[in-house]
Amino acid sequence: MEQEYLDSLVPQKGEFLTELRRVSALEESYAPIVQKQTEQLLITMLRLKKPRRVLEIGTAVGYSAILMADNLPEESSIITVERYKKHADIAVDNIFKAGYEGKIRLIEGEAAEVLHWLDGTFDFVFLDAAKGQYIEFLPDILRLLENGGVLFSDNILFKGMLEDEDKVIRRKITIVKRLKMYLEEIMSNENLTTSIIPIGDGVAISVKK
Ligand SMILES: C[S@@+](CC[C@H](N)C(=O)[O-])C[C@H]1O[C@@H](n2cnc3c(N)ncnc32)[C@H](O)[C@@H]1O
Repeated sequence: MEQEYLDSLVPQKGEFLTELRRVSALEESYAPIVQKQTEQLLITMLRLKKPRRVLEIGTAVGYSAILMADNLPEESSIITVERYKKHADIAVDNIFKAGYEGKIRLIEGEAAEVLHWLDGTFDFVFLDAAKGQYIEFLPDILRLLENGGVLFSDNILFKGMLEDEDKVIRRKITIVKRLKMYLEEIMSNENLTTSIIPIGDGVAISVKK
């Protein structure tokens, strides 16, 4: 109830994104897109940080990449990684239709591999892919993240399964264990200052010292 009320306060995001959110909710083969309050926190962070180079892990059909592009300084750019060809193809089409083909570059591939060979630095990372792999991605993310850069990790409370063992679905046990390792690591890592925010499916915001 409270969530519905808070969601209702989040402003609509323009015709293109509103339609993409609507279609994504209906289309079963699409992955879930960023929740409303999480998207609001994400763009608030982008407005504060004004990053020049953004890395997104988990493009789906391009909703959050386009949302971020709408909220970045003009000269900034985004690299977004997606392993599922069907999603990547739809995302490329959506990015083109939104007019951001010069600002957003999609790399199709498994993030664990792409992150290994990716170089340069980023001052903002939006992590929104397979939750069981976050811990595996972390060393490369930390290598790629500039000092003072922000790591925004979504879905870190995984539908309440981290806090309440009774909620854990049997086939998700490994993901829950790996996600707990990730949270413990980003909370205790000396190079990061992290805060967990229980909105949407749970967000962790980390700043690299
Ligand atoms: C929750 S959706 C991303 C939603 C998107 N960020 C948005 O809000 O519009 C997760 C996406 O990450 C992709 N994905 C999951 N694990 C991945 C990995 N290891 N490498 C690359 N893509 C991955 C999935 O195929 C899916 O499309």
